[in-house]
Amino acid sequence: MTATSTDDILKSAYALLDSAVLSYKGEPTGTAAALDDRVAAPNYEECFVRDFVPSALVFLCDGKPEIVRNFLKMVVSLRHQQPVMEGHERALGLMPASFRVPGEQDKEGTPTADFGELAIGRVAPVDSAMWWVILLRSYVLVTGDVALAHSEEFQESMRFTLDLYLKESFETSPAMLVPDASFMIDRRMGVYGHPLEIQALLYGMLSTAQELLLPTPENERLLSNSKKRMQTLRSYVRIYYWLDSQRLNEIHRFRSEEFGEDAANHLNIYPETIPPWMDGWLPPNSGYLVGNLGVGRMDFRLFSFGNLLAIMFGLTTDKQAEKIMNLYDARWSELVGEMPLKIVYPALDGDKWRYTTGSDPKNVPWSYHNGGSWPCLIWAFVGAAVRTGRHDLARKVMAQSMEKLCNDQWPEYYDGKNGSLIGRRSNLKQTWSASAVILGHQFLEDPDALAVFESINF
Ligand code: GLC
Repeated sequence: MTATSTDDILKSAYALLDSAVLSYKGEPTGTAAALDDRVAAPNYEECFVRDFVPSALVFLCDGKPEIVRNFLKMVVSLRHQQPVMEGHERALGLMPASFRVPGEQDKEGTPTADFGELAIGRVAPVDSAMWWVILLRSYVLVTGDVALAHSEEFQESMRFTLDLYLKESFETSPAMLVPDASFMIDRRMGVYGHPLEIQALLYGMLSTAQELLLPTPENERLLSNSKKRMQTLRSYVRIYYWLDSQRLNEIHRFRSEEFGEDAANHLNIYPETIPPWMDGWLPPNSGYLVGNLGVGRMDFRLFSFGNLLAIMFGLTTDKQAEKIMNLYDARWSELVGEMPLKIVYPALDGDKWRYTTGSDPKNVPWSYHNGGSWPCLIWAFVGAAVRTGRHDLARKVMAQSMEKLCNDQWPEYYDGKNGSLIGRRSNLKQTWSASAVILGHQFLEDPDALAVFESINF
């Protein structure tokens, strides 16, 4: 089939989204990650919390909030299924990566959650609870149903999560410390430590808590801590994660081995770690937030989702947001290519690929998480572009991807430096690829739709 009009394309995207809806006891409660019969891993039939977000936002924009409400309640009800490892103290607050609902024939069955104990590589879904809180905010904004957020069950759930996420662990900065593969990039990719996407989500969650957590004596401590953490995190990211040509020059001339309070290079980053591709790569009036920051370590790779979420949640300054979008504009062929959007730029190859991914054949250079192109990021790109007044870029992304995605049957990801090849091991009929296009279209055509992500400002 060759799609001819925007209407046909949207019809095809909606058909996929609608067929992906999963019901429990006759009520819609989430969407399957993919409907491709040949998928490699059986958990693509499940509802992933992060994958459901763009679908949920589409349902909210379309005046169908019930499925989102059911989903939010379902995830809370599954919390008690979190297994506790022997010798560990129970810390409720994590939410599952995905859940499975029993088939229609199975009347006795109950939903089951996976907190990463079954997922490939046994990865911890640190992002899930943060997405849950952020989605709850969108639900409340659109429906006005603040009673759900104020219910005892939901207040308790937010408290558990904030308790866990604000607890002191081994951080040495306001940024949150996580293991590798704890978010959308759920395979080993050198994204342990303080990855940007986690920091953006943390900021989004902490800002939301200010709105949704009731100011009761019981919540006072959490409200005050989340406000302080949100403020320190914001300053920290804006200063230390930011990279433009001026900052690059400063880092290039950093002194090292500085001891004590006045150290300018407080993480002891050696200028020698600046990768050669950076020389001349940043055009004037552009910049981005680096991927990660730790002791003696600045990960110079550009991770798209973290940058775009930081713009949408107001974690960047307006000027930084403008410069990030300028970078996409100037480096379009590298960062967007033929199919939006590179999940990370550039790819790791050779020994770096071997040591960083553990020789992962799915993450070979310019594929999957290692520089592959992910259509599911389109909604975030359009959202960030519209928020910064770059409708031109939002239109360009939509215009170049919609028809191809529809004709290719909504692949999960694309391969290649230009993103022109359907991913070697990519699923087709990947739900969030379709919902990202519907949402991107809505953000562009209906400025009110962006209200589901109305910027958070404190
Ligand atoms: C892959 C992706 C992850 C996604 C899941 C379901 O594991 O890396 O981000 O949630 O597939 O689509």
